[in-house]
Amino acid sequence: MPATVILGAQWGDEGKGKAIDQLAAKSTWAVRFQGGNNAGHTVVYGDTTLKLHQIPSGVSSLHCSMVLGDGMVIDPWVLEEELDRWHELSGERPEGKRLFISERASVILPFHRLYDSADKVVGTTGRGIGPAYRDRIERVGIRFADIANVVDDVEYLQNTSKRMNGQLESVGVDSRIEWEKLQNDLKWILERYSKSIKPTGLMVDFALRNGEDVLLEGAQGAMLDIDQGTYPYVTSSVTCRANATHGAGVHPGHVEQCFGITKAYTTRVGNGPFPSELSLEKGAGMHMAKIGNEFGTTTGRPRRTGWLDIVALKESNRLNGYTGLVLTKLDVLGGLDEIKICIGYEIEGKLLQMMPTTSIELAKCKPIYETHPGFEAMTESEWIVMANKSRVENTGFGALTKDMLNYIRRIEKLAGVPIVSIGVGPDREASIASINGPFDLPENKEMF
Ligand code: GDP
Ligand code: IMO
Ligand code: MG
Repeated sequence: MPATVILGAQWGDEGKGKAIDQLAAKSTWAVRFQGGNNAGHTVVYGDTTLKLHQIPSGVSSLHCSMVLGDGMVIDPWVLEEELDRWHELSGERPEGKRLFISERASVILPFHRLYDSADKVVGTTGRGIGPAYRDRIERVGIRFADIANVVDDVEYLQNTSKRMNGQLESVGVDSRIEWEKLQNDLKWILERYSKSIKPTGLMVDFALRNGEDVLLEGAQGAMLDIDQGTYPYVTSSVTCRANATHGAGVHPGHVEQCFGITKAYTTRVGNGPFPSELSLEKGAGMHMAKIGNEFGTTTGRPRRTGWLDIVALKESNRLNGYTGLVLTKLDVLGGLDEIKICIGYEIEGKLLQMMPTTSIELAKCKPIYETHPGFEAMTESEWIVMANKSRVENTGFGALTKDMLNYIRRIEKLAGVPIVSIGVGPDREASIASINGPFDLPENKEMF
């Protein structure tokens, strides 16, 4: 079977973790292909909540092998914390057995975190992502495959720490990197991960040619893409479909399905324009933040909230060609009198159906809304009852009320993409899948 891509269709935190966890039930590989621990992907089942930053969200499907792919930048210390948390929960140590780190992935070092701490513009996660990618593009970064070759090269280590210290000084960061510390860090990484570092592209390619199902797990979202997003308020990698196979080390011909994950509204963490943004202090914006518990999974920062932006979603579909949308957090909108959808922008008296290229212009765009009737609030367990009823009676979206269904059909029409699953709560079970669609999944016994 071919590769399936799962992507954030907005500005991140759309609920990718949950969708990947669901699809991992019928896949044998889950591969992260870009980004690093700026990602925070949540998987919830019963009383357990996993917050994953680098480990792929297929982890709780015990039959699933996992790859931290070529296109990633990886913080080995954060990975160790994540692996320890998983071990505490499950008793399993997957590294080297079913979790593999690409030889081609770049190492995030303390230097990168320190350099990122000087950011005053973008509102980064401070995890060293941009600086690690910058080193890669400058061709001075260290990949996992390179560690063994440089770890005893004192001249290289001295020159590298000198370069790092010059850069730290240039942005006003006081800390310095001693070459001996750099050497010890690299030695530790080798010791800790040598059994897990593999030519993962070859492994994924073999699995695909062997007919296995491979999930390619995106991080961030289309609007945070370095080339196509709301530059400069973006992350430092290509978050879109075109990079999914490249960052995993296989060719694009393997991909048959690509799912865009979008909230039924919009959120954004960090700086940058957001035309349909609402106030967090009152009304619908406050409602979304409170009921949707909109705090960043990685940094804990409050997420900015706003109505669903169809202009952004259409741009996102232009870039990714979604075969289906997963609409998450519909439950959060329950209890609002009316629900709006941003269907266009107005800028200096002109009507726009597309996003302008610059963030300066986007910041001037005023949203044009259409308004839909709201629907009543329901409790978490009432939504799960609705989801289970849909599953048992095989009624798909027929389980939803008329107003919910109208809202969903309108989004499908405006975006030009079918919705294949609707999120109605954080739990793995709290989803309503389209009948016989890709999320209409058989029960799986191998889930943790
Ligand atoms: P990701 O980065 O795209 O994986 O998303 P995050 O995990 O950062 O943020 C999504 C948040 O919404 C998490 O807390 C999820 O548990 C939660 N979530 C996902 N889907 C739903 C849903 O349908 N309804 C509700 N209420 N919460 C959801
Ligand atoms: P997931 O995978 C939401 C945002 C940061 C900042 C910008 C650049 O959980 O959806 P970076 O640290 O990447 O250089 O920060 O991108 N950002 C995210 N926002 N979800 C994420 O990941 C994000 N990863 C980065 O807030 O605005
Ligand atoms: Mg997240």
